[in-house]
Amino acid sequence: MKLPSGAILTLVRGDITRQDVDAIVNAANETLLGGGGVDGAIHRAAGPGLLGACKEIREVRPDVRCPTGEARVTTGFALPARFVIHTVGPIYRSHPQPAVALRNAYLSSLQAARQVGASTIAFPAISCGVYGYPLDEAARIAVQAAWDDSDELEEVRFVLFGEATFQAWSAAVEQLGA
Ligand code: APR
Repeated sequence: MKLPSGAILTLVRGDITRQDVDAIVNAANETLLGGGGVDGAIHRAAGPGLLGACKEIREVRPDVRCPTGEARVTTGFALPARFVIHTVGPIYRSHPQPAVALRNAYLSSLQAARQVGASTIAFPAISCGVYGYPLDEAARIAVQAAWDDSDELEEVRFVLFGEATFQAWSAAVEQLGA
């Protein structure tokens, strides 16, 4: 669907590491030292250079290179995407304001894309795996953030892994357009 900025919002089922866009977003943790889920998939597809680049990112406090809700950018190494935007979503059960933190993770990533001149960006369903965010609420927050702030972008793509996640995002997009 068309966003107010003129960017196109698209939903695809599949693997974010295979998306041919300028920037893919990684659902990382605050250490930026890799993990499982989409973080593990992106590191595997990018190759060892990605971890090296993450280790170069300055710690803002011990073991924290990217605070929850913020974003940091590296190149994409062996990935089709030129950039990886690493963001950290909230752990749903333990974060005091998970909705605010999740929205910030999306907004910080959109801002980071603009800063590096990326015009097409692909997001996973941030915090919807290990971090336990309920799909329907996360989907509404994600598509609302794209609606609110996709200036200077051509495409905002959500790459959904699994039918339930795809359906949650589809429903959220329907509600946006309504
Ligand atoms: N492509 C697209 N989406 C994927 C992929 C993939 N290759 N692999 C997993 N996903 C989906 C999951 O199914 C889920 O819907 O990404 C979403 C986010 O799940 P997680 O990867 O578990 O991320 P998150 O819930 O944000 O937890 C982050 O997990 O991997 C660790 O280091 C990471 O500690 C951090 C935590």
